[in-house]
Amino acid sequence: MFKRVGGTKDILPQESPFWQKIEEISRNVFSLYNYKEIRVPLIEEAALFNRSLGESAEIIQKQMFIIKSKEDTYALRPEGTASIVRAYIENNLDKTTGFIKLYYTGPMFRLERPQKGRLRQFHHIGAEAIGSMDPSLDAEIISLADHLLREFSVDNYKIKLNSLGCTKDKKELTSRLHRALGDKLYKLCADCKIRFKKNTLRILDCKKESCQGVVRKLDIQDSHLCPECKVHFARVRAGLDSLKINYEVCSYLVRGLDYYTRTVFEITHQSLGAQDALGAGGRYDNLVKELGGPELGAMGFAFGVERLLLVTRSGGQEVGSQKLVYVIALGDEAKIQGLKLLDKLRKERIICDTDYEGKSLKSAMRKANDLGAGFVLLIGEDELKKNVLTLKDMSSGKQEEIRPEELISRLRC
Ligand code: HAM
Repeated sequence: MFKRVGGTKDILPQESPFWQKIEEISRNVFSLYNYKEIRVPLIEEAALFNRSLGESAEIIQKQMFIIKSKEDTYALRPEGTASIVRAYIENNLDKTTGFIKLYYTGPMFRLERPQKGRLRQFHHIGAEAIGSMDPSLDAEIISLADHLLREFSVDNYKIKLNSLGCTKDKKELTSRLHRALGDKLYKLCADCKIRFKKNTLRILDCKKESCQGVVRKLDIQDSHLCPECKVHFARVRAGLDSLKINYEVCSYLVRGLDYYTRTVFEITHQSLGAQDALGAGGRYDNLVKELGGPELGAMGFAFGVERLLLVTRSGGQEVGSQKLVYVIALGDEAKIQGLKLLDKLRKERIICDTDYEGKSLKSAMRKANDLGAGFVLLIGEDELKKNVLTLKDMSSGKQEEIRPEELISRLRC
């Protein structure tokens, strides 16, 4: 009798409703943030992942499912980000759409040693926003992940946040670690001894107690960050604070994939045991260029569905099919107000989005029009001074000033 391959699962009819519910909730929440679905192949050229995740990443070293044909070497995708960036460039989305918000669901494959919460075929629900360096986007992505968890009725999770800085900062951190750990190698586990040469940063989030004992004595903090990366991180945190998202800055969080720069985050749940990450993500501002596209910032995350199902079994509510509300916030202060406003609208289940490309008022209005927005909400210096919002009804062209507390009822009438 044949048996399923170790580390894979059959999703039987009695379990499917939970999968469908998680997917349905996700689609509803993604649409509130104006993310659109992308579906990419399960197989790619293996080199795509080598280039994106980095030769020294554990996935590349040990966990790729490789398929060889006479001429080519393919891999079953171990994650979605590299494929989506490949698709973004190959389909010229940088030229036709520019900034884009995408979500995806589907199986991923890693040749791991199976255990609770660690499979060889598992599923991601993820999002990637490509084409922006704006720190408000980092805050939105993290609040989107937080929002999804609340809709899945998961609680008691922890959001860990860190900034790795730009490529130069990562190099600086690596050489600081080389200096600090050079005479302590004998205290590290066998894997970390290898990491010291090939993938030094990963020593920081080694789970072994012996390594943590050494690492926790180092003073990491954020001194490796250049002034621009410090400002970026401060603005991400200000955005999250304004949204009242609970997070913990964790300077040991580095993540296992080479493409990350600046913001990284991980969401953990204690009940999961050793494999405690429900999901994770971060910025990858060099990847589009690395894969042959233009220089564009990007940020995303993915949840592991099997792990979500281990911590939740309940449902959420529907999102109606209404028209998009497009928020145009001009200036730093207005952007923070804009973030709060978007959060408020989404809590009221109103589909909304904003500009993350630093567009002028005129081109942001054009974008709202292209997106088919029903309303535009404008916050500029004038509005901030008077504590009002300018609301434009895109079908009638009528524009009026309203008080923030009138907004929801005004949009609903
Ligand atoms: P990752 O941390 O490798 O990130 O995977 C994301 C989540 O997938 C993990 O937090 C975990 O819940 C789940 N997961 C990973 N490996 C397994 C496994 N073997 N079995 C079961 N679940 C697993 C990424 O893949 C990035 N692409 C996330 C991202 C998107 N970063 C930016 N955009």
